[in-house]
Amino acid sequence: RPIIFRTVADMRAQVALWRAAGDRIALVPTMGGLHAGHQSLVSRGVQMADRVITTIFVNPTQFGAGEDLDSYPRQEAVDVAMIAESGGAGVFIPSAREMYPEGFATKVEVAGLTDMLCGARRPGHFDGVTQVVSKLLNQAGADMALFGEKDWQQLAVIRRMVQDLDIPTRIVGVPIVRDDYGLALSSRNSYLSDLQLEVARKMNVILKRAAYDIGTGGPAQAQCATAAQAILDAGFESIDYVECRDAQDLSLIEEVGDRPARLFAAAHLGSARLIDNLAVN
Ligand code: PAJ
Repeated sequence: RPIIFRTVADMRAQVALWRAAGDRIALVPTMGGLHAGHQSLVSRGVQMADRVITTIFVNPTQFGAGEDLDSYPRQEAVDVAMIAESGGAGVFIPSAREMYPEGFATKVEVAGLTDMLCGARRPGHFDGVTQVVSKLLNQAGADMALFGEKDWQQLAVIRRMVQDLDIPTRIVGVPIVRDDYGLALSSRNSYLSDLQLEVARKMNVILKRAAYDIGTGGPAQAQCATAAQAILDAGFESIDYVECRDAQDLSLIEEVGDRPARLFAAAHLGSARLIDNLAVN
């Protein structure tokens, strides 16, 4: 069974003991509602380090007004069991008070990379992410931290922040885990009815075709527009974006060249906002 920490002090004391024994430590930040995608991060951490600490904190500062902060899945016992199954050594479950005590006043903002995609659609979202992730990285003092490519932009923003702020934790990206139909696993998939799940599973198929067409020389913008329409036709209610961008600096790409490009999409289905991304070339 993993050790559960509810305070920064408790986590730090255990990390110090593990360190003294020569152990390498990996951190896996999550908001809970765990699924096989999160478990793959823990498993990768177990391969790369001696002790893996998973954090579970539904960070209020990264949710906008009208978003799903209140309805976000909270299932601590299930989450801890899943972490145990994957070989996690510790689980850090702080309260909002522990993370943001009275008087908390510091913001962490990464400029540029946060202007587009989800940043443009969810104002302030990435400021909340960098605020909490910088704290978690400092609190744990782990050798490495693992993040999923499912949230590709988040990974890029966190890499930038860690480099800019000299945070001595190596950031490791982990490939997207999908279900048998290609749907990227997400805690928010639990909002979907069976019928909506069938619709959701069409998005990755549409994106795969568009990525192939763009990769073989098709005009990126036009293919993205076609894919966006196909996603609507499949039954999604609205599209936030379907865009082809540079995999590293996230700049818009019209014609795919030698540099790695990715296709990014976000769309609404029922009360869920689903995102996905995949390589174009
Ligand atoms: P959350 O959505 O819980 O995701 C936690 C981590 O799991 C992220 O790094 C995310 O990219 C990864 N992940 C989610 N679904 C995945 C999938 N299908 N395949 C692979 N990895 C997947 O992302 C957050 O929480 C928060 O923003 C957080 C970083 C914890 C800060 O609050």
